[in-house]
Amino acid sequence: MSLIQLIDFKILGDERGSLVSLEQNKNIPFDIKRVYYLFDTKSNEARGFHAHKALRQVGVCVKGSCSIKMDNGLQQKTVVLNSSEKGLLIDVMQWHEMYDFSGDCVFMVLASDYYDEEDYIRDYDEFIRLVKSES
Ligand code: TYD
Repeated sequence: MSLIQLIDFKILGDERGSLVSLEQNKNIPFDIKRVYYLFDTKSNEARGFHAHKALRQVGVCVKGSCSIKMDNGLQQKTVVLNSSEKGLLIDVMQWHEMYDFSGDCVFMVLASDYYDEEDYIRDYDEFIRLVKSES
């Protein structure tokens, strides 16, 4: 499975403008229990720096752009998100770091579960230990 999994959203548009519809278990590959979004981010402030044990997420840069470094403990890849037509799957056990936010960036995240700090792995060494213990 590729580390960078982008989902192409179908654009429903007409002369009045564009529209994207996100539906659980259709173009979003899980039940959606939570939606949150980042805005007023700073270009020099990176965020994330964690992985999740069970949570699955899809991130969409609905306005502006940002970069995300994805890391599954074996390889690292960076993707620039600058389109409201694409979602990035942030799957379980994928360490992610977001940075280079444009001033107008609005980054929306669809999540498969409610917020639960217990599901976070915020220590990179612990993340690597868990990846190795699972392989
Ligand atoms: P944090 O995990 O540091 O954000 P990021 O992953 O973007 O670096 O979250 C910031 C704060 O918001 C932290 O105190 C946890 C809280 N929070 C919630 O209460 N609910 C949520 O759905 C999220 C994502 C965060």
